[in-house]
Amino acid sequence: MSVRRYHVQTFGCQMNVHDSERIEDVLEGAGYEPATDERDADVIVVNTCSVREKAEHKMLSLVGRFRELKEARPELRVVAAGCVAQQEGEKLLKKSDLLDVILGPDNIPELPGILKNIDDGAPRTVRTVFDEISPSFLMATPRSNSVSAFVTVMKGCDERCTYCVVPNTRGPERYRPADDIVEEIKQLVDSGVREITLLGQTVNSWYDPSALDEKPTSKRAPSGSRFALLLRRIAAEVPNLQRLRYTSPHPRHLTQPLIAAHAELSILPRHMHLPVQSGSDGVLRRMSRRYTAEEYLKRVNQLKSAVPGLTLSTDLIVGFPGETEEDFLATLELVRNAGFVSAFAFKYSERPDTPAIAMGDDVTNAEKSERLQRLFEVVGEQQRTHLKSLVGTTTKVLVESESGGRFSGRSERHEIVHVQMKEGENPIGEMVEATIIQAFDHSLLAAGPGVDPATVPSRAPKARTKLPVVGA
Ligand code: 5AD
Ligand code: SF4
Repeated sequence: MSVRRYHVQTFGCQMNVHDSERIEDVLEGAGYEPATDERDADVIVVNTCSVREKAEHKMLSLVGRFRELKEARPELRVVAAGCVAQQEGEKLLKKSDLLDVILGPDNIPELPGILKNIDDGAPRTVRTVFDEISPSFLMATPRSNSVSAFVTVMKGCDERCTYCVVPNTRGPERYRPADDIVEEIKQLVDSGVREITLLGQTVNSWYDPSALDEKPTSKRAPSGSRFALLLRRIAAEVPNLQRLRYTSPHPRHLTQPLIAAHAELSILPRHMHLPVQSGSDGVLRRMSRRYTAEEYLKRVNQLKSAVPGLTLSTDLIVGFPGETEEDFLATLELVRNAGFVSAFAFKYSERPDTPAIAMGDDVTNAEKSERLQRLFEVVGEQQRTHLKSLVGTTTKVLVESESGGRFSGRSERHEIVHVQMKEGENPIGEMVEATIIQAFDHSLLAAGPGVDPATVPSRAPKARTKLPVVGA
């Protein structure tokens, strides 16, 4: 039989990007090879995201495009994976006759077996079972030459924010033992990786499940101190690791020990993405976020004092049920007070089986658009002011890629920096000290070590085709 080929298409968050890497790994482990695109694939996997609107609809219309391919080659298998698959399960088989497999995020290792069974005559299959009893955390083999890699430390979410579908699609929180996490990071660093991003839906609520006394007495109690110990352990035990990031922390688990770890560990970037969602206490309460705007600001101010120059980014929702103009103004005020240098902002949309559905969806789409626009303006302005303020300073850049003779990477504050190096130098995978010479709307231009800034040709900033922050 000739070699079978796969194609994986990914939507959504970094957790999904990482899951797609694992899907590729398990298929390769079973002898599949990557296809050049969907047209020459024997298996197409659509790894779906349902965190925001119309996810199912988007997935089904994408799958609809495969009809011709499937008619030409009936042996083509189409797999729906990820959060929409987990949430909708069996129902998707009825909605599209093109789908052969519906696969939940915890069932990735079973995919080759399921495909084989279907080849042997088994019917279309749904596998969406959470591994609650003995959770597995598959690692993904590092992509060749990749400077950066993800490592999962926990999965699922117990927070149950009232608007969010994730507790349904990713299941209850399960944590990975510290020894396994450290071991995976060591392996990745030995293979050339220099930056690790720890992943989890509320990554800083992590604790070590293999240490019996670690389990918080109440799932509702703020954690964060165990996670700080994990960061310290990784920094101490993996000396060649250059940078350790994590996403996404929950503000209520940003505890004092975690702030202290940020003050002391130079391996942590001087940046935090800390979703706040709203600046109105009433909205935060109805969202069930379990902090007030003041508490959020107090924590981030402590963090900023502990780590000079630290920048913040966030996630925001506009038009949550019952959000008034006054509530929205409180969000704008918080955005200014926290000084976010970037933000992902979204219009509220009802998600299946979430508590907020009972609150209605009373903010009109026009109002949501208008509020989003005002938010973009404030955040965009803060971003431009911040980037301009960096011109003339030096920053450490972890170089990740090259294009047209210019290298790019991220600064210690997570800004995208294009670096001009000396002729013949290739710093990919290295941390270089760069002098910032120009600020664009979303990135920076810098001169690498030993390069005279005056000799670096400046680039005209690209015409702005879209808003400065990502929107819904
Ligand atoms: N509507 C709009 N935005 C949402 N998010 C999550 N659920 C919804 C929803 N129902 C946003 C939050 C979260 C980000 C990943 O997606 O801001 O932090
Ligand atoms: Fe969703 Fe809230 Fe959990 Fe984040 S913390 S995944 S927004 S329920």
